[in-house]
Amino acid sequence: MAHPLHLTINVEVLTAAELTPAEAATWQAARAATDHAYAPYSHFHVGASLLLDDGTIFRGTNQENAAFPSGLCAERTALFGLAASQPERRIVGMAVAARPASGDFVAVTSCGACRQVMAEYEHRQQQAIPLLLPGPNGSIYRFRSLSDLLPFGFTADDLPQKG
Ligand code: THU
Repeated sequence: MAHPLHLTINVEVLTAAELTPAEAATWQAARAATDHAYAPYSHFHVGASLLLDDGTIFRGTNQENAAFPSGLCAERTALFGLAASQPERRIVGMAVAARPASGDFVAVTSCGACRQVMAEYEHRQQQAIPLLLPGPNGSIYRFRSLSDLLPFGFTADDLPQKG
């Protein structure tokens, strides 16, 4: 019998003053990273930061290209960069920030392709990664898990078993 299935995503809406010290550092790192975006075409500077289990922070920025589809979002340069250089590291938090090339920070959310990649690395480490995104009017959205951005997402669990 057809019946509704209601999904719930718990998001906390915070001010910067309510972040934990580690979250505040991650948040600031994402904002600072926007200075290193390479966005000569969109002029939209995006920074992403990954808080690691040893307390260090790894950053990514959007990298654009004259052949537009060859560019990559900040979330993926961060995740791919970390996985390529320090694959043993566990990620315990993530934040994203965005602003026009010359202008103040704005609300932003991650694109669909980034959501898929974010879910992959969370699944890989078998531990939820909390995410901070800039919401409207200077608010901060705190998600409990990267995969909260991708309900019904496809993961390695959906692939047929080997052998
Ligand atoms: N972009 C990101 O880096 N992350 C997002 O979450 C949204 C979009 C980048 C891609 C491109 O360089 C620019 O923002 C405009 O789409």
